[in-house]
Amino acid sequence: MNELDYAHFCTLMLQRSGLVLTPDKVYLVRSRIDPVAAQCGMADAAAVLQAIRLRPDERLIRRCVDAMATHESYFFRDGTPFEQLKTRLLGPLIAARTARRALRIWSCACSSGQEAYSIAMLLKEWGPSIDGWRIEIVATDMSEPILEKARSGLYTQFEVQRGLSTERLLRWFRKVGDQWEVAPALREIITFRRHNLMEGVSGMGQFDLVFCRNVLIYFDRQKKSEILGAMAGAMAPDAALFLGSAETVIGLTQALEPAPDLRGVYRMAAARPALASAV
Ligand SMILES: C[S@@+](CC[C@H](N)C(=O)[O-])C[C@H]1O[C@@H](n2cnc3c(N)ncnc32)[C@H](O)[C@@H]1O
Repeated sequence: MNELDYAHFCTLMLQRSGLVLTPDKVYLVRSRIDPVAAQCGMADAAAVLQAIRLRPDERLIRRCVDAMATHESYFFRDGTPFEQLKTRLLGPLIAARTARRALRIWSCACSSGQEAYSIAMLLKEWGPSIDGWRIEIVATDMSEPILEKARSGLYTQFEVQRGLSTERLLRWFRKVGDQWEVAPALREIITFRRHNLMEGVSGMGQFDLVFCRNVLIYFDRQKKSEILGAMAGAMAPDAALFLGSAETVIGLTQALEPAPDLRGVYRMAAARPALASAV
């Protein structure tokens, strides 16, 4: 692979998606971009990288950005965040929103939608105290093809076996051919839309819960710091932010801090006294 093409490709990926690619990631680029080359009738990844540098084509660049992204996700991923949401966070949050009767939740970098649908299941299973509330889950990702999959609400047998109990599968899905389709009751509270974290968070509004899991790991320190700072600006004062198990706010922003006694949950730093009694 030509060094100049590779360096140009790395810079482009960093600008477009925040993905940090180092010189030792040539194998990864090859394995992700060879299939793009095949789809486009080009020889191999090296030919794609050269074409992008010499004759930049927006569609080809977008395909590469999508191909380089890791879309791994599954229902109730890692268990603990969703357990904590159910047993420690939702109760106090719902009590605090009784007057407003509304909840806004952001699943950013939602990939194929399992995170958003998992949150929707927990809320729908909450019981009558939130019946009739305005509940909105905004689920965003930079990749249009993966959002299409999320919107379809269709999952394979393999996908529903990852993280879903049989009880939940039967309650919230119906079999359509060899796939499983998410129930309309979950779909109607989720809006899937395109959003790139590189573009900041302005215009997203304010959220009570933010899930930003397993995406910051791909960014450099400065980008993580900028995104977390901006995210804090999109959170209600008593909101909670969920990060992935390999992610943290520590050393990246002063606006957020770990929630005491919870794993992977972060709060607005200034809100600590009020929240300590809430959780
Ligand atoms: C590993 S998945 C995480 C999915 C889900 N949050 C979870 O934890 O299961 C990472 C997702 O982040 C998305 N992504 C990567 N860079 C992004 C960016 N700059 N803006 C928005 N989404 C991005 C990818 O398209 C991918 O779907």
